Amino acid sequence: MMSNKRSQVVYYSRTGTTKKIANEIFKKLECDEEEIVDMKSRAGAMRYVDAGRDVKKRVLTTIQEPIRDPAEYDLLIIGTPVWAGSLSVPVKTYCTQMRGRVGRVAFFLTQDGDESSAFDEMRAILGKDPISSLALNGKKEVDTGTYPGKLDAFLDRV
Ligand SMILES: Cc1cc2nc3c(=O)[nH]c(=O)nc-3n(C[C@H](O)[C@H](O)[C@H](O)COP(=O)(O)O)c2cc1C
Repeated sequence: MMSNKRSQVVYYSRTGTTKKIANEIFKKLECDEEEIVDMKSRAGAMRYVDAGRDVKKRVLTTIQEPIRDPAEYDLLIIGTPVWAGSLSVPVKTYCTQMRGRVGRVAFFLTQDGDESSAFDEMRAILGKDPISSLALNGKKEVDTGTYPGKLDAFLDRV
């Protein structure tokens, strides 16, 4: 693993699980970091239902204007929670806006289950294959702190 100033980690996190992994990557790679901010409030139990509905309807959301241009980086590491078996709507929106502006990409996700179409969706939207990818279970791996081995293997490939 090399420290790489030309990498950026970009992520969305509703309840802090994906953020925890993004922060670890930020520290380990000493790269730039940016949180995707959804202008639509996603807090609380009712918003959970609403978020699932947004995935099913295939709508995008409005995100805060990103601070950094991914075109300035050699590597963009994108992190998302899984929503309704899919890519979260804020990350789907980010990827859609940045299509054509990314070089090399790596993907990571956190989820409560063990499968999703999130990586396939990111690959399709961006038109890029990831050089590395990492799927972590929030409860079994992130909360229990048993993820560092998988995280290091993910970072070894970037
Ligand atoms: C609207 C919504 C739908 C979700 N659907 C799924 C799902 O289909 N499969 C799954 O494994 N986890 C699902 N989850 C759980 C999140 O993916 C998981 O808790 C994740 O680690 C949360 O990341 P965050 O804390 O960064 O927001 C869903 C969460 C939300 C809010």
